[in-house]
Amino acid sequence: MSEADAGEAGAHAGAGSGGWPTVDFELTVNGAPQRVTGAWVGENLLFVLRERLGFTAVKDGCGEGECGACTVLMEGRPTTACLVPAVAATGLAIETPEVHAVPQPDPVAAALAVHAGAGCGFCLPGIGMEMRALLAHNGKPSAAAIRETLSGHRCRCLPPERFIAATRDAAKTLAHKQAQARAQADASAQDAQDAQAERELQAERELQAEPQPPHESPIYPRVPAQAGERTQPGGRARAGENDSEHEQAGARS
Ligand code: FES
Ligand code: FES
Repeated sequence: MSEADAGEAGAHAGAGSGGWPTVDFELTVNGAPQRVTGAWVGENLLFVLRERLGFTAVKDGCGEGECGACTVLMEGRPTTACLVPAVAATGLAIETPEVHAVPQPDPVAAALAVHAGAGCGFCLPGIGMEMRALLAHNGKPSAAAIRETLSGHRCRCLPPERFIAATRDAAKTLAHKQAQARAQADASAQDAQDAQAERELQAERELQAEPQPPHESPIYPRVPAQAGERTQPGGRARAGENDSEHEQAGARS
């Protein structure tokens, strides 16, 4: 990476006490920013993650891209950290095995413990990252797909069938969890709809229960020429007029 590129990526170049070029930069690991200062510009991501930042679940095997032990996810893609200059990972989302094991092992880590727990353990974190990337895109991988996906990982102590079984178990658990999450989301949406309908019903009831303004009879102008008996069209009296007529008649009698 040229100095200009490093600057664009948020890195600052300098010189170490031995005269070698150094850089300061920030990585995003497991969702959190991690500041790296005074790193040799050629340090690989594996070294920086393990030795500078303490993510020791990333294993250092061959150091040359052959064993897969150092596999991390960069932007969701499996990447051998030993082959990536750390400063080139600035601005990219990096995932290490730690984020999937603490505080609870995720379905992949749990399945590996069951099916590959007898292995050396050194290779498993990298294999787990590869499995996660596969399951993120393929919820029901075939045995051939699993074999091909894990072909870049060197495990000399367990047969591939163990990893196939682990991947399938993890896929089942993930599918079950996803179905549960969907059912829960549907139930929450239904509850919200019911609550909204209940609120609307309640508002309607309250509206109906409110006292209505007294109904006033329309007032028709009484035109003397059209005045007649109360039952005749046009002979209707103004509101209240009849009452006073009745009262007057009552007083006279
Ligand atoms: S240590 Fe990176 S592939 Fe072996
Ligand atoms: S799990 Fe490490 S060699 Fe098999």
